[in-house]
Amino acid sequence: MAKEKTLFFCTECGTETPKWAGRCAACGAWNTIVEAPAERRGKGSAARRTTDGASGKPLALKEIDAKQEERTGTDIGELDRVLGGGIVDGSLVLASGDPGIGKSTLLLQMCRNLANRGEKVLYVSGEESLAQIKLRALRIGDCADSLLFLAETDMGAIREHILAYRPKVAIIDSVQTMMLPEVESAPGSVSQIRENTAFLMRLAKTENIAIFLVGHVTKDGSVAGPKMLEHMVDTVLYFEGDSTTSYRILRAVKNRFGSTNEIGVFEMGSDGLSEVRNPSEHMLRGMPENEPGSVVAVTLEGTRPILVEVQALICKTTFNLPRRTAAGTDFNRMNLLMAVMEKRLGISLSGCDAYLNVAGGLRVTEPALDLPVVLAILSGYRNMPLPEQTTAFGEIGLTGELRAVSQALARVREAAKLGYRLCILAQSDFEKVRGDAPKEIRLIGLRNIRELPKDLRFDGER
Ligand code: TYD
Ligand code: MG
Repeated sequence: MAKEKTLFFCTECGTETPKWAGRCAACGAWNTIVEAPAERRGKGSAARRTTDGASGKPLALKEIDAKQEERTGTDIGELDRVLGGGIVDGSLVLASGDPGIGKSTLLLQMCRNLANRGEKVLYVSGEESLAQIKLRALRIGDCADSLLFLAETDMGAIREHILAYRPKVAIIDSVQTMMLPEVESAPGSVSQIRENTAFLMRLAKTENIAIFLVGHVTKDGSVAGPKMLEHMVDTVLYFEGDSTTSYRILRAVKNRFGSTNEIGVFEMGSDGLSEVRNPSEHMLRGMPENEPGSVVAVTLEGTRPILVEVQALICKTTFNLPRRTAAGTDFNRMNLLMAVMEKRLGISLSGCDAYLNVAGGLRVTEPALDLPVVLAILSGYRNMPLPEQTTAFGEIGLTGELRAVSQALARVREAAKLGYRLCILAQSDFEKVRGDAPKEIRLIGLRNIRELPKDLRFDGER
């Protein structure tokens, strides 16, 4: 009997190779090559077909009929924002995140809202029994009867149920537990995940049903299974959060129907997730007043300015090698900024331990955090607090120069709205926003960090 033909795939980038190897030749990742049965061309290879059943003839733009995408609101403002204004009919959305972060809860709340408005919704779970789902649903609240639940892992059966019920939105929780019987490998394997996703993509497009797919993430935070999964779907949402805080951040890392980088902020409570409409207030809750080493930074997430507290603790090193840590931001950037400060401000930081923290559980890596980081370190080093109600933002270059950042005016307005009275920024941003900024906030524009006052009192009108 002829041996079943198998191929090898990289679970990171999806590259096919005929032989096993310790390292993927395409992306260079180690130990990611796995064996999987080769696809049978023709019958099973859903990935090879076009998603909208087009005839395959080249067309001019005006010959293509495309309707304006229909969107359905979820009544969860933060989720709508991340999706780009609601659920697009016939789209395939991948929702991923750490176990226990609240993916099933958020999707269930979304289904409940849709059903309560009279939409038909189907929630398929391959992970939990119907009784478990019921217990969760009871915590969230009553839902209308147009929301149906199904415990099933066979994709063929799921397709039949979807075609019979014809819901507006279907949830598949999770892609790693589902299986197509004609693919001869275990659920969760590379070929199962790939074929399942292609199968669902086709179902979503041909039947015009929006499908949400839950995906697990690996230890290092990417979606388990081939990275390819992210290429196949329309939208990829990541649900992140610190297990020690109740805040959850939903982030679109890819969105064919909206902008990426938008975030939604939620808080997990005893009756499910609730929206956090003003994240800045939450991020700054419990912030110390008039303490050295603490600065409020105005960062931007998507199009949305958010205020976060940056803290620095600077103390004398007791060992030969100073200890440095950065939580919630980039460690290498912190080292670079400390080197710039050492050189341009002439202060000796090499003998100091430095601990940097962005409080509130948000991870910020944008360059506008540079100036707040420098101010926090300087304030911690000199043991002098900044003036009350001070905020800052701005990128810092290697010569210590302050550079403009995006959306300066929106940042200044958010700071003023939350009652801050002083904002330190780059001179070029200062000139740009001076005319339009709210009058109640005083702006200080700087060209170089050398212009920072020694006593950190920012006097003088600007
Ligand atoms: P869940 O949505 O099951 O996570 P995921 O599907 O991402 O694995 O969320 C599970 C966690 O959320 C669990 O630890 C319990 C907690 N939780 C609450 O705190 N309050 C609630 O109302 C619900 C439904 C869950
Ligand atoms: Mg779950």
